[in-house]
Amino acid sequence: MAPVFAASVVRWQRTHGRSELPWQNTRDPYRVWLSEVMLQQTQVSTVLGYFDRFLLRFPTVAELAAAGEDEVFGLWSGLGYYSRARNMHRCAQEVMVRFGGAFPRRSEDLESLPGIGRSTAAAIAAFCFGERVAILDGNVKRVLTRVLGFGADLSSSASERALWGMATELLPAASERGAIESYTQGLMDLGATVCTPRKPNCLLCPVNDICVARREGAPEAYPVKTRKLKRSSQSLWLLQANDEAGRSWLEKRPARGVWAGLYCLPVFDSHAALLEALSPSLRAIARDGAPFLHVLTHKDLHLHPVQVESDSTAAMPGEGQWLALHEWEGLGLPAPVRKLLEARSHPTPDAA
Ligand code: ADE
Repeated sequence: MAPVFAASVVRWQRTHGRSELPWQNTRDPYRVWLSEVMLQQTQVSTVLGYFDRFLLRFPTVAELAAAGEDEVFGLWSGLGYYSRARNMHRCAQEVMVRFGGAFPRRSEDLESLPGIGRSTAAAIAAFCFGERVAILDGNVKRVLTRVLGFGADLSSSASERALWGMATELLPAASERGAIESYTQGLMDLGATVCTPRKPNCLLCPVNDICVARREGAPEAYPVKTRKLKRSSQSLWLLQANDEAGRSWLEKRPARGVWAGLYCLPVFDSHAALLEALSPSLRAIARDGAPFLHVLTHKDLHLHPVQVESDSTAAMPGEGQWLALHEWEGLGLPAPVRKLLEARSHPTPDAA
C-alpha cells in the first residue's frame, strides 16, 4: 500500500494541490517556519495578511530576534494563542544565539527550539531541506486514520506513537527525489480541502480506492478520540477606567498566567477585590457593565466589566498607564479587552 499511497498523494498535489501560497516556492526556513507557526491554529485565509505584515516589519530572523516583545505581540494581535508569538520571539533569539542566525537543517534540531513541535519541525525540514520525515498535525491524523482504518483511541499516547510509526512507513521512498516536499504539502492540502472533518469529498480523493474508512462507509468515524479536553471556568472582574480625555487605564500582564505579557485592563478575582482597589471617590461612581462569556481553548472566562469615569490625576490601582486609542490600538490586547475598549471608544447608539 505504501508506494501507491505516496505516489497518489504526490501526483494529486502537483496537479490539484495549493501551489501559490506566499510561503510556498521558497526554501527559506524563516518564511516556512513563520507560516507553519501561524498556521498551527489559524486558517490560511486569516494567516495571509499577517504573514505579509510580519515579513515587511521583520524581513529576517535577526530583525525579529532584536524586536521588543510588545511590538511582536502588537503585530500578532488578532491571531490569538499568544503563546505562539512569545515562543516565536524566543525561537528567533535562540536561532541567533545557538545557531549563529541560521535555522538548523535537521528536524531533530529544529524540534529543540521553542514552539516547534515534532510535526512543525518535520514540515520545515521537509519543505526547506528535503528531509524524509513524517508530519502528523490534526489534518494529517484525520487523513491517515481514515485511509488506514486506524481505529485506536488517539487519546492514548501508545496509539499516537503507533500512528507516527505508520506515518513514517507511508513516506515516499528515499530514492524518489523531490517527492517529500509534494507529499508533505499534499497531505496538508488533502486534509484541509478534501478529507474534511464533516462531509469529506471522497469522490475527489486521490486515494479513495485504497481508503478503509470509505470502504466501511463512515469516514467521519475517524479519528477516534475519547478523552476530550478538560475544561474549566473562571470569573474575572475587569476595571474599565477612562479619563477626561477618553484614554483607558491599561497595564502589562505578568509573564505568567492568563494573557501573559499582553496589555490589559486591571483584572480581579472578585467584585469586592476590584472595589477594594479603588479610592473611595471612584468606588462611589463605579458602574457594573454587562457580563459576557469569552471561550478559550481550555477555559470559559466569565468576564464582568466595571466602569468608572476617572481623571488622569486620580490614584489608580497597580502599575498601569493612561493610553489613548492611537496608543493601545497597535498593542497586543486580549480579544475581549479590545472589544470592550472599542465599544467604549465608538459607542453604537443602542450600546451608549
Ligand atoms: N497548514 C499547515 N501548514 C500548511 C501549509 N504549508 N500550507 C497550507 N496549510 C497549512
